[in-house]
Amino acid sequence: MQAVEIKKNIYWVGAIDWDLRDFHGYSTQRGSSYNAYLIMDKKITLVDTVKEYKTDEMIERISKIIDPSKIDYLICNHVEMDHSGALPYLKQLNPNLEIYTSTNGVKGLSAHYKKDWKYKELETGDVLNLGKYSLNFVTMPMVHWPDSMATYIPEAKLLLPNDAFGQHLASSKRFDDQIEFDILMSETAKYYANIVLPFGSQVQKALDTLLKFDIDMIAPSHGIIWRSQIPALIENYKKWSSNTVNNKKAVIVYDTMWNSTQRMAQAIYRAFEEKNFEIKMMNLKTNHISDIMTEIMGAKYICVGSPTLNNNILPTVAAFLAYLKGLAPKNRTALAFGSYGWSGQSIDIVEEVLKSCGFNFIQEAIKINYRPGCQDLQAITDKISKALHQADK
Ligand code: FEO
Repeated sequence: MQAVEIKKNIYWVGAIDWDLRDFHGYSTQRGSSYNAYLIMDKKITLVDTVKEYKTDEMIERISKIIDPSKIDYLICNHVEMDHSGALPYLKQLNPNLEIYTSTNGVKGLSAHYKKDWKYKELETGDVLNLGKYSLNFVTMPMVHWPDSMATYIPEAKLLLPNDAFGQHLASSKRFDDQIEFDILMSETAKYYANIVLPFGSQVQKALDTLLKFDIDMIAPSHGIIWRSQIPALIENYKKWSSNTVNNKKAVIVYDTMWNSTQRMAQAIYRAFEEKNFEIKMMNLKTNHISDIMTEIMGAKYICVGSPTLNNNILPTVAAFLAYLKGLAPKNRTALAFGSYGWSGQSIDIVEEVLKSCGFNFIQEAIKINYRPGCQDLQAITDKISKALHQADK
């Protein structure tokens, strides 16, 4: 396990999690990495660590450069345990290790680790001189936790923004020009949609501050380091954080018992198709909710269908709606639909959740008793077409 020099005397010493397939309900189909950065200067400094079970891998990489007990400073940009997990081990190795973090970082680390560690609290504008390099700190509350912080090194034009600009992507490559751009950007979008989406205004505030710095490398705490594609990355972060959507894109999310709700979904599809929309049909049996969220991030229209099961919605639809509500996309136009046998509560339940998300509606919810016939399906298509036509005016 080697360290990778990313700037003179600054090394990536993280760990690659090839096996990770779930991150708090987010399907990480390409694994992930936890990126820690070692700065060899008069004061030897480690910025962030790794998940606890990856401590050995990080220590092996650090040991290629220096005895890990010689690290003087630990910068904790973010408390979450995928970045602070090796902290207890490092403190054990060197009880004099000085931990620098934000005020909220102190609260979080104290509450989680319950150790009598001394902390150095940081605020935006604080500078820590290491020798040749200096660390400049910017707190970024709610990008994506209260304690989140970025570290900027002007002498290296290097930004270490922790989770911001990251991707869940395991690779033996470290830089954006060593990996296929479409894969990299699609994983960056998925990461934003599933982790950062609720915090658009906080991201914009952070961008305002960070983009004043002279940056030629952005090294996040997950995935690949940006050095060649920074303009495309920033352009996308500006777009995603401003809740920019494609007014001609619809995502139709549903599950089905006896294909009746699926037939309704297809009728809705036809209406969008007639209007030349980009459409994603996402059956919850075959699509993961985190992939659905990536599509929803750029879509104006969200249609959600569930048949009625035991006076309620299908569990897959319930999980999706809970996830959607938490990630809080804004200014969307929605539609609830579904088939039922005798009681039909599911459609109202779906509509209530979509209302609680603050969405507008294409039209009132569509319910069909048992199986929709050809005329029912045509009526659905016609109604939606008409509503879309009205919305165009
Ligand atoms: Fe990668 Fe918020 O932890």
